[in-house]
Amino acid sequence: MQRSHWKNRWTFILATAGSAIGLGNIWKLPYMIGVNGGSAFVLVFIACIFFVGIPLMMTEILLGRRAQKNPFNGMQQLAQEADASHLWKYLGGMGMLTGLLILGFYSVVGGWVLAYIVKAATGSFSQISASQSSTNFDALLASPLILLGWHTLFMCMTMGVVARGVNSGLEKANNILIPALFAILLVLLGYSMSVGDMQAAYTFMFTPDFSKITPVAVLSALGHAFFSLSLGMGAVMVYGSYLQRNVSIARTTIYIALADTMLGLLVGLAIYSLVFANQLAPNAGPGLIFQTLPIAFGQMPGGNFIGMLFFMLVAFAAWTSAISLVEPMVAWIVENTQIKRATSCLGIGVAVWLLGVAVVLSFNEWKDIKIVFNLNIFDTLDKLTSTILLPLGGLLMAIFAGYAMNKNHVQDELNLNRHWFTLWRVTNNLIAPIAIFGVFLYLFGVIQ
Ligand code: PHE
Repeated sequence: MQRSHWKNRWTFILATAGSAIGLGNIWKLPYMIGVNGGSAFVLVFIACIFFVGIPLMMTEILLGRRAQKNPFNGMQQLAQEADASHLWKYLGGMGMLTGLLILGFYSVVGGWVLAYIVKAATGSFSQISASQSSTNFDALLASPLILLGWHTLFMCMTMGVVARGVNSGLEKANNILIPALFAILLVLLGYSMSVGDMQAAYTFMFTPDFSKITPVAVLSALGHAFFSLSLGMGAVMVYGSYLQRNVSIARTTIYIALADTMLGLLVGLAIYSLVFANQLAPNAGPGLIFQTLPIAFGQMPGGNFIGMLFFMLVAFAAWTSAISLVEPMVAWIVENTQIKRATSCLGIGVAVWLLGVAVVLSFNEWKDIKIVFNLNIFDTLDKLTSTILLPLGGLLMAIFAGYAMNKNHVQDELNLNRHWFTLWRVTNNLIAPIAIFGVFLYLFGVIQ
């Protein structure tokens, strides 16, 4: 069977940027900056993107493009080619499952975003007080049926695109949604500049204060670099497997990583300038865009309309990421069985939807059920995937490409001159693995 490919380099860049840019940038990064001491976290995060994220994104794309298969069969084939253990295929399998675990909570948060588009559009932010805004958000989380409805809609949107395949589904959606997302971002930035306090936001995010860098900040920054660039679970690998051979992996990676990081930081500036202009607290945590931001919108001219645009931006970003979370598993089913793409989407969609139901309930009926370390279902999925599974997947991919694969095959794919190739090797073979390993040692209490 002929495999589909992206139409050209730009559609690959848009799609992979679409996967990278998501709730991670707009919902998670800003609140993580807030709770981890502002600029200290930003610096560490940027360092993680450059020294770990960029080299590992190149690695993941090169693995996918060389294999031209879904992550499971791809790793199997690459291991065969490299005379390495067949167990490497389970790295692909672990990634595909990680994607579904992430989508289980991602879709529920995507649902909150859809709900907030409607709230903004119907004017419910107008002049609300801080306590009203919290009550609104708490009321949403306390209503399982409403959450379930929005989660269901988000899953249908996601699986609807994936079911249409690479060219008429993924490619088309990203070609429309990503440019729209950047256009909305510009409007939002202009608005924040005119009514917000950019100066305060800038100082908060970029004036370095090294005393605030804590081990926990480093740990979360590294985990978030993986989450934000969609690394370590095969999304980038499967997108790379649809990439034509003549495209430069290094150059496209730089574009994607820069777009992802810049967008996260710009959205952060926009959000914090509104937060500071309204004397609100920057360290609100996961409720930042849902509780704090609406108060700011409610007090500003045109705030309801801009609020609606803002939540549309978040929804587009989340949608294009969600697509990439299921594509590896769907590709695996389609490439190994007779099952049609649409049917496999339905099956996987139902499975993830059920996981999402548990996540929905963890905010209300099942609030007191703790899985590990006193975390509820939602927090367990979030922490398990971004602090353990994604970095572990990335670590193993780096080891495979750096030590198991034939160096010439790697160079064939990367096609870099000597200096850049050496730089990639040093970061992929040494810096990234040591950083990830160090974080694991800290996480498991081996070092303090
Ligand atoms: N990168 C996405 C975000 O920032 C999330 C994601 C993680 C998507 C892993 C695919 C794979 O929201």
